[in-house]
Amino acid sequence: MPRAITIHQPGGPEVMQWEEVTVADPGPGEVRLRQTVVGLNYIDVYQRMGKYPLDLPGVIGMEGTGVVEALGSGVDTVSVGDRVGYVMGPPGAYAEVRNYPAQRLIPLPDDIADEQAAAMMLKGLTAAYLSRRTFVVEAGQTVLFHAAAGGVGLIICQWLKQLGATVIGTVGSDDKAAIAAAHGCDHTIVYTRENFSERVMDLTDGQGVSVVYDGVGATTYEGSLACLARFGMYVSFGAASGAPPPVPVSALAAKALYLTRPGLAPHTATRELTLDIANALFDAVRGGVQVEINQRYALSDAVSAHRALESRSTTGSTILTV
Ligand SMILES: NC(=O)c1ccc[n+]([C@@H]2O[C@H](COP(=O)([O-])OP(=O)(O)OC[C@H]3O[C@@H](n4cnc5c(N)ncnc54)[C@H](OP(=O)(O)O)[C@@H]3O)[C@@H](O)[C@H]2O)c1
Repeated sequence: MPRAITIHQPGGPEVMQWEEVTVADPGPGEVRLRQTVVGLNYIDVYQRMGKYPLDLPGVIGMEGTGVVEALGSGVDTVSVGDRVGYVMGPPGAYAEVRNYPAQRLIPLPDDIADEQAAAMMLKGLTAAYLSRRTFVVEAGQTVLFHAAAGGVGLIICQWLKQLGATVIGTVGSDDKAAIAAAHGCDHTIVYTRENFSERVMDLTDGQGVSVVYDGVGATTYEGSLACLARFGMYVSFGAASGAPPPVPVSALAAKALYLTRPGLAPHTATRELTLDIANALFDAVRGGVQVEINQRYALSDAVSAHRALESRSTTGSTILTV
C-alpha cells in the first residue's frame, strides 16, 4: 500500500505520521498521480496547526509533481505517463500516490525538472500574481518585500528586479541579508534589530514605497502602513508571525492607501488563470530567475522539514522527495 504523512489531530510537527493509506480509483474528472516531489510551503504549517481546518484524519500539502498513472472518466486534458505539477486544489500532497482533479494540473515543460517545479510552483505562481496582477510593478518603482530570503522571497525579489524595480527586502539575520542581496534586493534590512519602517523612509528620502508585500503579518503590518508612499498599496498575503489585527478603514485615509488580502486560490480558480500565471513563471525562469532548493528532506521526514521552516532556519525553497 502507498504511504502518506497523515494527521489525526491538529498540533505541532509531531502530529505528522508516516502511514499506509488506501487510494481509491480516480473518480470522474480525476487522475491518479504517482508523485515524485512535494513542495514545502507555509500553508502546510497552517493546515497542520488547524488554522486552515481539514477533514481528519487527513493529508496536508498543496503542491507536488508526478506522473499520471490512471485516468478517471471524462478526463481528456492529460494522458497516462504525462509529467505534471499542481498547486492548491484539495489538500493531500504529502503522499506517494494521490488522486487529483485533472483540470487543475499543470503540464511540465521538458526544460523544467520535477524538483525545480515542486520548489517553485506555489511560491512562483504567488510571485507571479503578486507582481503582475495584485500590484502591477513598473520599472522605477521602489517596493518592500518582507522575509526576502524565504521561499516566495527569493523568487519574487529576482523577478521584481527583472521588472526594473528598486527592491528593499527585510530579513531575520545577516546571513539571510547576504542571500537576499544576491537574489535581487538592492537594499536589505535586518528587521529583528533595525526599525524597518524608519530605514525604508531613509532609503526613499522620506517618500515611502509604492507597495509593501507582507507575508509576515502580526509583527510587520504596522510599520508597513507607516512606510508606504501616498496612494501606496499594502498587500497582506500571509501570517508567518501571526495574523495582522483588523485594520480600521480610517487608518488608510491620511495617505489614501489601498489594502488587499489576496490568495492563490482565486488566482488558480480556472485552468486558464492557472496556465496563464504558470507560463509567466516558466518565462521568468527562462529569463534568469533562479529557483534555489536550499533544503531537501525525504517526505517521510516531513517533521524535520516543518521544524526547520517554523524556526526560521530555512532560506529559499524546501522540497520533500517521495
Ligand atoms: N496568499 C498566498 O497566495 C500565499 C501563497 C504562498 C505563500 N504565502 C505566504 O507567504 C509567506 C511566505 O511563505 P513561504 O512558504 O515562502 O515561507 P518562507 O518565507 O520560506 O518562511 C517564512 C519566513 O517568514 C519569516 N518570519 C518572520 N517572523 C516569523 C515567525 N514568527 N515565525 C516563522 N517565520 C517568520 C522568516 O524569515 P526571516 O527569518 O527572514 O524573518 C521565515 O523564514 C507565508 O506567510 C505564507 O503563508 C501566501
